[in-house]
Amino acid sequence: MEQTFVMVKPDGVKRGLIGPIITRFEQKGFVLAAIQLRSIDRALAERHYGELKEKPFFGELVQYLTSGPVCAMIWQGEHAVENARSIIGKTNPVEAAPGTIRGDFALDIAGNIVHGSDSLASAEREIELFFGGAVAASAPVHLVAGTV
Ligand code: TYD
Ligand code: MG
Repeated sequence: MEQTFVMVKPDGVKRGLIGPIITRFEQKGFVLAAIQLRSIDRALAERHYGELKEKPFFGELVQYLTSGPVCAMIWQGEHAVENARSIIGKTNPVEAAPGTIRGDFALDIAGNIVHGSDSLASAEREIELFFGGAVAASAPVHLVAGTV
């Protein structure tokens, strides 16, 4: 089953939005495979967003990500990467539709409260970076998705 990496960014944690964000993933039908509340140091932030290092906002982005604890998660389900991006909403909250996480909870692109992997390759890389590889979901997926 496909897995994706999702992270509530520091402002999301500070605003008490871990719960509402987890709820949305659960309501969508995802299974939580792993979760950790942790800090990110500069080196990890720079690796996580390595492909953006030439962007003018990179410094600000790294500073933002290291400004407080984050909640890093692995969510599992059919088309996990695409489904997660769909409920997270567009990068810029101004463009994110109401009903999406960014559309409902964020105002500004520099504080868009949540990260989701943008491809299967990114998901694998990010899961490895934060969790040291794929983590088995705690419950059999057919039970959660089907009979419960
Ligand atoms: P990106 O990977 O393009 O977006 P997404 O998070 O939707 O995959 O960019 C990573 C983060 O960088 C984004 O969530 C917010 C920040 N960012 C800015 O601050 N300014 C910008 O112009 C862009 C494109 C991103
Ligand atoms: Mg991205």
